[in-house]
Amino acid sequence: MDAFTFHNPTKLIFGKDQITQLPTQLPSGTKKVLVVYGGGSIKKNGVYDQVMEQLNKVDVEVLELSGVEPNPKLTTVEKGVDLCKREEVDFLLAVGGGSVIDCTKTIAAGAKYDGAPWDLVTRKATPETALPFGTVLTLAATGSEMNAGAVITNWETNEKYGWGAAPLTNPAFSILDPANTVSVPKDQTIYGIVDMMTHLFEQYFHNPTPSPVQDEMVEGVLRAVIDTAPKLLENLESIEHRETILYAGTIALNGMLQMGYRGDWASHNIEHAVSAVYDIPHAGGLAILFPNWMQHNIDVNEQRFVQLATKVFGVNPEGKSNREVAEEGIQELRKFWTSIGAPETLRDYDIGDDQFDVIIDRAMKRGPFGNFNKLHEDDVEKILQLSK
Ligand code: NZQ
Ligand code: ZN
Repeated sequence: MDAFTFHNPTKLIFGKDQITQLPTQLPSGTKKVLVVYGGGSIKKNGVYDQVMEQLNKVDVEVLELSGVEPNPKLTTVEKGVDLCKREEVDFLLAVGGGSVIDCTKTIAAGAKYDGAPWDLVTRKATPETALPFGTVLTLAATGSEMNAGAVITNWETNEKYGWGAAPLTNPAFSILDPANTVSVPKDQTIYGIVDMMTHLFEQYFHNPTPSPVQDEMVEGVLRAVIDTAPKLLENLESIEHRETILYAGTIALNGMLQMGYRGDWASHNIEHAVSAVYDIPHAGGLAILFPNWMQHNIDVNEQRFVQLATKVFGVNPEGKSNREVAEEGIQELRKFWTSIGAPETLRDYDIGDDQFDVIIDRAMKRGPFGNFNKLHEDDVEKILQLSK
């Protein structure tokens, strides 16, 4: 293991009706709260009303910023930053999925920064302070509710980057009620499952081994998600299964499973480059790319792929070479994602190879990347070719 310091300042508030804790979680002295949300799902499923009912119990002025897009845009961040500066907002509340939360994180830091918010996203500048914010999560997927990361897209330059500045961009609290995720449609439920599984895989593929405690935890969460996903997709209204998946999504990316090493994260980098050029769902891109990343990197540490195949996908190694077991694990993952309805190739989104050069350029913007294996231009090209 590598040396590490673990500190996660986000208070996690989980379970039925826990929205009632909202009033007591606002920092004392809060006068103006900006509620940030997306395209309107919270108005249809009642979450907006729940939030407003709680905010009405305290003496705060409530402002709203709606219309945060999936794959949140820099222009929306800028709108939020202007609003915060103009109105002297002192607390932000994100109500939605990862996109709303990421947008809120960037607004929170941008509101206390004199320059352009894009400087923060591109890491040209580091924020010294930020507005405090909390979240009410409505979609199990990204883990953004309990980490410091945010992903923002600049459509003028076709660039999509992840950034973060812990602890400033960690939510002060996050309220997670499985009932608030019941209205998530089937496709977004599938994407959420693929995203959290890929977060687990990204961390699993690391070099500072042995890491038996972390491995068992990651393998265990993966098995629980694989077991629950088909049951949830059969019955989207099941609170029991929504609860399991919601908790898994948070645990998958709140730092708990990544102590003592850095995960790989190359597939996320390539996916962000793909969705900077084509506005596709993040996890749709991951479902296509990740098995091909695996195929491309199988020789880096075959044993790691064998361990995943046997311990997570139940591949029987008897009479097979390590290579065969490793390959079977990759096929099992592909089969599983296909069985739940995830996309398999870029063609599923009508994406051809005509923009591969732009995608590769965007992916390489910060130089060679990936911690399990460093990827260069030709590696990215090969993974994209496998994904056609
Ligand atoms: O816009 P609204 O009306 O809220 O609808 C959303 C949106 O259309 C809808 N939705 C959310 N909760 C719902 C619901 N519909 C019905 N009922 C509910 N309860 O779902 C759609 C997708 O929402 P979005 O927030 O975009 O999804 P997700 O949570 O998957 O977030 C994706 C974004 O997060 C980034 C991705 O790149 C992408 O931009 N990521 C952020 C990470 C982080 N901060 O740690 C890590 C991830 O790897 C990821 O990159
Ligand atoms: Zn992700």
